[in-house]
Amino acid sequence: MDRIGVIGGGLMGSGITEVCARSGLDTVTVEVSQEAAQAAEAKVRGSLERAVSRGKLSEEDLAGALDRITFTTDLGRLGDRDLVVEAASEREDVKLDLFRTVGALLEKDDAILASNTSSIPIVKLGAVSGRAANVMGVHFFNPAPVMQLVELIPSLTTSPETLERMQTFVAKTLGKQPIEATDRAGFVVNSLLVPYLLSAVRMYEAGYASAADIDNGMVLGCGHPMGPLALSDLIGLDTVRAIGISMYDEFKEPLYSPPPLLDRMVDAGLLGKKSGQGFYPY
Ligand code: CAA
Ligand code: NAD
Repeated sequence: MDRIGVIGGGLMGSGITEVCARSGLDTVTVEVSQEAAQAAEAKVRGSLERAVSRGKLSEEDLAGALDRITFTTDLGRLGDRDLVVEAASEREDVKLDLFRTVGALLEKDDAILASNTSSIPIVKLGAVSGRAANVMGVHFFNPAPVMQLVELIPSLTTSPETLERMQTFVAKTLGKQPIEATDRAGFVVNSLLVPYLLSAVRMYEAGYASAADIDNGMVLGCGHPMGPLALSDLIGLDTVRAIGISMYDEFKEPLYSPPPLLDRMVDAGLLGKKSGQGFYPY
């Protein structure tokens, strides 16, 4: 698989685009508007420039990676792709529409259509795609260029060949470490992580401690690279909330239900690092 498509050029889509292009793959990234496509390009360029400034990438490799990427607003450009990774916003209606449309326009019978969703059932995306055997979850972690893990999620209708091809792609072509999870909201990592993040928001909301003290508690006391409120800001509070809602819908466990403060912050547009303000200013 060497012709890749990425849908969405936000935090994750831009990171996945960078990972694919740095692995030598021809990559087409689709966004909703010209402005969003330009913002995606700026994110990828900024991240590559940072790698150059840290001595991790040569100027020549930066230029080569950018040359391999096309940023567009035209979903039709995905027709000839071997693999498309959907990384649009965590909204079921948006993803169902995309799987319907892109499932129909892929030209190759064995082209794989994968979702980077954090929590939406893969089987539902397969069902509307018209190619359920070739649909699965491929869940990268944020920041995608840095994090080694990729969760692979076959659904009830994914073929063993599709899973096998994705295992090889992730491990050999991208050089990342795959683990396999079943098609349950949250998969492995978010099932453990999201209740922890939501608990930290509840603590903060209840006035246990300041945001900085909650975060320092986990960084200095447990050796985490960042505290739960800073990590929520990094993920995006809209995304944390959406994952909690999907997990609550599936399991009806109160610990997955987003606390009111998170709802209010998302309503106010305080989405974390990507909007410039969350639990902290950026
Ligand atoms: N894009 C590309 N590279 C980045 C980056 C980004 N956005 N952010 C950091 N990096 C790179 C830096 O260039 C640096 O690379 P080198 O070591 O090769 O020079 C390296 O990462 C470390 O960066 P910094 O020194 O600037 O910062 P740091 O040491 O504080 O690390 C961090 C930053 C990697 C984000 C670290 O704090 C961390 O690991 N945080 C936890 C992240 C995490 O838990 N992610 C999972 C979120 S959950 C998820 O993704 C699933 C979901 O569905 C929500
Ligand atoms: P984001 O808000 O940063 O970006 C989403 C992008 O999708 C936006 O740029 C938006 O314009 C674009 N988009 C929306 N509808 C689209 C459409 N119809 N066609 C093309 N583009 C469209 O979100 P994100 O954090 O990048 O999350 C994307 C996906 O990755 C979600 O499913 C999320 O759950 C998952 N995910 C997020 C993280 C994280 O830490 N943020 C980690 C792993 C997985």
